[in-house]
Amino acid sequence: MDSKDNGYYSMNGGDEYHSYVKNSTYQRGIWEAATAIIEEEIATKLEIPTSSKHFCIADFGCSTGGNSFPAMNTIVEAVKRRHESSNLKTPEFYVCFNDVVSNDFNTLFSSLPPGRSYEAAAVPGDFHRRLLPPSSVHFAYSSCSLHWLTEAPEATEGLKSLVWSGGERLRGGEKEEVYKAYLGQFERDLEAFLQCRAVEMVDGGIMALLIAGVPASWDPQKEFTGVSVAELLRSSLLDLAKKED
Ligand SMILES: C[S@@+](CC[C@H](N)C(=O)[O-])C[C@H]1O[C@@H](n2cnc3c(N)ncnc32)[C@H](O)[C@@H]1O
Repeated sequence: MDSKDNGYYSMNGGDEYHSYVKNSTYQRGIWEAATAIIEEEIATKLEIPTSSKHFCIADFGCSTGGNSFPAMNTIVEAVKRRHESSNLKTPEFYVCFNDVVSNDFNTLFSSLPPGRSYEAAAVPGDFHRRLLPPSSVHFAYSSCSLHWLTEAPEATEGLKSLVWSGGERLRGGEKEEVYKAYLGQFERDLEAFLQCRAVEMVDGGIMALLIAGVPASWDPQKEFTGVSVAELLRSSLLDLAKKED
């Protein structure tokens, strides 16, 4: 991550060694795992208004585009097939690429795939706010972005020091308090996102949100399990911090 605007950090721009483009194969894998499900949803659930001559896709949290382009292409091709199967004329496609203002949109626009069958527009800004006109988006997509919270959840001083100073492992009750604080913040942020998209989406449109999660069986009161990405991240950050000392 590099620069920060309005409280948000954006991903490393450009296409050099430390860029997001060169360091996001994990996120690419998440999209690839979801591709077949999204194609199936478009084929079976997308309602096509016969009067509409255009189709608008919005990618919320697109970064510099490396993973967004294949996703947008797959969605466009699936929507084309859906129109063909209903004997409807192929619409004009528009893709709105959204990310925070400090995102490297120059890299995104200079690497747009040649021969793409959509027009592209940048929509910079916080996706927890209204960004697009009412009833304008037919397909809302977001991958690996919605877990970014608007702020660290409000917590007691003691809790804060446990969270941020690191060293000690959290005990049962404290872990649950941290879990609840972050869950509450995530719920508020997700609700704000959904309320905005509810205004912006057309009736019968589709929303595909790819979000990291934990198994339903996960119990925050118990020790973090070996599969917890959060725990892996926490211990990596602590190791890094120790190296800095
Ligand atoms: C891990 S990247 C994911 C990029 C891409 N979707 C992918 O799958 O590779 C998360 C992106 O979400 C963006 N983001 C985070 N919070 C945001 C917000 N409130 N509004 C708009 N974009 C946001 C970040 O700037 C970042 O580019």
